[in-house]
Amino acid sequence: MKEYKNVHILDHPLIRHKVALIRDKNTNTKQFREIICEIATLMAYESFKDVPTQEIEVETPLERTKQTVVKENSVAIVPILRAGLGMVDGILTLFPAAKVGHIGLYRDKHTLEPHEYYCKLPKNIEEKVVMIVDPMLATGGSACDAIKLLKARGCKRIKLMSIIAAPVGVEKVAETHPDIDIYVSTLDRCLNENGYILPGLGDAGDRIFGTK
Ligand code: PRP
Ligand code: URA
Repeated sequence: MKEYKNVHILDHPLIRHKVALIRDKNTNTKQFREIICEIATLMAYESFKDVPTQEIEVETPLERTKQTVVKENSVAIVPILRAGLGMVDGILTLFPAAKVGHIGLYRDKHTLEPHEYYCKLPKNIEEKVVMIVDPMLATGGSACDAIKLLKARGCKRIKLMSIIAAPVGVEKVAETHPDIDIYVSTLDRCLNENGYILPGLGDAGDRIFGTK
């Protein structure tokens, strides 16, 4: 795959370890959910390095001091339903006050085109850093639609976090939206004839919610 300035591969050994566990078909629903959440926390730690900050004054037992904290109301998390929901709690661990929006998209089984069925976003989302989350970036169609929708609402600082990505999907998002930072933990080999990532982990939504 070509190199893109806006694509960041977060392949910390701890993340790699957890990704190996969720790929395993013998990992059950409970374990899968927990690990997806943990990976999201680890990825958030790195991908929010440039989170907006503000200075506050703090009184220690000894003196007053100026300190830097995360700017209030500056972050929104937007999971792509369904599978993105599995990553939300992991990020809220680090940003408990973040607002959460939801974009519902499903891929048509035959065309692999995304279809929107739900959208509810926080007030003033255009003023926030918006992190779209979805564990799987396959053709890139769903991510591109979500980004387009957020841009149409006036969002200017959008990021995308996916755990496993296919090169073709990363290329599509990186080239369509060069202004978006894309964070993935693993670049897999390719897509199969049904649009599933190989080696991948199967259907993330089904594995999180136990629907298969
Ligand atoms: C999966 C996944 C992404 C999308 C990725 O969702 O969670 O949203 O496919 O594929 P793409 O990059 O080719 O668009 P799916 O449509 O299966 O819906 P679900 O989460 O409700 O199972
Ligand atoms: N969606 C998934 O859940 N898994 C894939 O491999 C591709 C799209």
